[in-house]
Amino acid sequence: MLPQKRGRIPFRIVMNCYWKILAVFLLFLPSALSLQPRALLVSFDGFRWDYIYKVSTPNFHYAMENGVHVKQVTNVFITKTYPNHYTMVTGLYAESHGIVANEMYDPILNETFSLNTMDIHNSKFWEEASPIWVTNQKEGHKTGAAMWPGTDVKIHGVFPTYYMPYNESVSFEDRVARLIDWFTSEEPINFGLLYWEQPDEMGHILGPENPLMGPIISDIDKKLGYLMSELKKAKLWDVINVIITSDHGMSQSSSERVIELDQYVNRELYEVIDHSPAVAILPKEGKLDEVYEALASAHPNMTVYKKEQIPDRLHYKHNSKIQPILAVADKGWEIVYNKSDGFQFGNHGYDNILPEMHPIFLAVGPAFRKNATKEVMNATDLYPLLCHLLDINPLPNNGSFNAVKDILAEEVPVAFGADTYATVVGVFLGSFLVMVFIAVFVKHFILTQANTMQMQHTEAAQPLLQD
Ligand SMILES: *[C@@H]1O[C@H](CO)[C@@H](O)[C@H](O)[C@H]1NC(C)=O
Ligand SMILES: *[C@@H]1O[C@H](CO)[C@@H](O)[C@H](O)[C@H]1NC(C)=O
Ligand SMILES: *[C@@H]1O[C@H](CO)[C@@H](O)[C@H](O)[C@H]1NC(C)=O
Ligand SMILES: *[C@@H]1O[C@H](CO)[C@@H](O)[C@H](O)[C@H]1NC(C)=O
Ligand SMILES: *[C@@H]1O[C@H](CO)[C@@H](O)[C@H](O)[C@H]1NC(C)=O
Ligand SMILES: *[C@@H]1O[C@H](CO)[C@@H](O)[C@H](O)[C@H]1NC(C)=O
Ligand SMILES: *[C@@H]1O[C@H](CO)[C@@H](O)[C@H](O)[C@H]1NC(C)=O
Ligand SMILES: [Zn+2]
Repeated sequence: MLPQKRGRIPFRIVMNCYWKILAVFLLFLPSALSLQPRALLVSFDGFRWDYIYKVSTPNFHYAMENGVHVKQVTNVFITKTYPNHYTMVTGLYAESHGIVANEMYDPILNETFSLNTMDIHNSKFWEEASPIWVTNQKEGHKTGAAMWPGTDVKIHGVFPTYYMPYNESVSFEDRVARLIDWFTSEEPINFGLLYWEQPDEMGHILGPENPLMGPIISDIDKKLGYLMSELKKAKLWDVINVIITSDHGMSQSSSERVIELDQYVNRELYEVIDHSPAVAILPKEGKLDEVYEALASAHPNMTVYKKEQIPDRLHYKHNSKIQPILAVADKGWEIVYNKSDGFQFGNHGYDNILPEMHPIFLAVGPAFRKNATKEVMNATDLYPLLCHLLDINPLPNNGSFNAVKDILAEEVPVAFGADTYATVVGVFLGSFLVMVFIAVFVKHFILTQANTMQMQHTEAAQPLLQD
């Protein structure tokens, strides 16, 4: 009777404490949950790194003050849309991920790939690599993609968990709305990808030095502002790591800087697979040397390589889809058959060493430093960074996490992913149970001791030492 009664008191106290602690714990749960790894990767096609200085871009500057701005990002050669978008999600050079151009011919498959005609859905072209969404989903997470190149292609048997079939007519606002839905759904994504076609299209038409680019850049700034305000409305802005970047820059062309292949070599001898300014040339059977000799020193502003001569620093050689001859124009020059070919005032695809080819790069969110800048990084480093943010294991790649980890906030335990969170909860509950156990044990021990003492006390009248 007596021990039972005494046992009930500590139990009630313990339970009382337990509920109090649990209440406090639940109070902090939302902020702890907010540290769950989540990221949104945004690309504004052709947004050159220095566009933010050309006109007032308050939203870009807001993101810069609240995050990290990397001033020069060395993207990959060739500095075109598909190769660079695939590098961002694989961390590989074009020769290693296999999307070596927007227009490709695979001599082994005898098949073509073309962005011009949107003939890009042949999985085989994409499967030399495994993009980050495939890995993310293998590790049990969900991905949502709004028009990001390659996200409506089945790669290694899977699509992103949610994606939009490519349709350039779908507005920016609709793309953002879908992403917000996916991030806030019952089974939310941890990773979103958002692609927008501008300012690339207008950059080609007007040329980057054209003052009419001003309103185009302002419009992108407004779109970024819209994205940020929608994320804030959905209470996502403070908890998602957002990376705002691009695939490449743009340089000014001129009708004064045009190289005409027809002046140097007979068109019958070769086929152009990919176009200016990095022209992929497939000579007809047995005509390799003839075509090469004709073009090699044809024009001072065109460098012509046989495939095996392409400089190692370009990492653009070891792939069967890279054609036997590559002709690369100097900055601002164009290579055409003849001058009747269409002409645009802006282009990209040039050597990735040129600052004009470099994209914007901003990173904002709980994982990142605030109002910080970094001078240079390689575009290949974005992939290991994203894997870190999503708490997934990167596949072999050409980037380096160490090279970019300095953009992460130091105070915040950045590896505070779902696993870490589970560990923290486990340790908390475990230690709590241990404490309860110890408390109960100690209490019980004291009581038993007291009992014994009491008993001993009552027995004290009798002889104590029996043994
Ligand atoms: C390659 O495919 C084309 C049709 O797309 C065909 O005409 C040609 O014969 C094929 N070449 C080889 C070597 O199989
Ligand atoms: C593309 O999107 C536009 C605008 O939402 C829509 O009107 C059109 O039907 C879509 N096209 C296809 C092929 O789905
Ligand atoms: C074009 O070639 C000339 C002669 O080699 C050279 O002086 C000039 O710098 C080149 N232009 C560019 C943009 O590289
Ligand atoms: C220039 O090229 C076009 C087609 O690419 C061709 O029709 C035209 O005859 C060519 N002009 C000259 C002068 O060779
Ligand atoms: C950001 O840093 C700059 C100097 O690097 C400083 O002038 C500015 O006030 C800072 N802005 C904020 C919001 O802290
Ligand atoms: C970029 O990558 C190259 C090749 O791995 C490396 O030598 C260089 O140091 C890297 N640059 C930066 C800024 O990390
Ligand atoms: C890039 O990474 C791939 C995959 O690890 C590797 O096969 C390739 O050799 C790397 N390229 C360079 C230049 O290191
Ligand atoms: Zn373009």
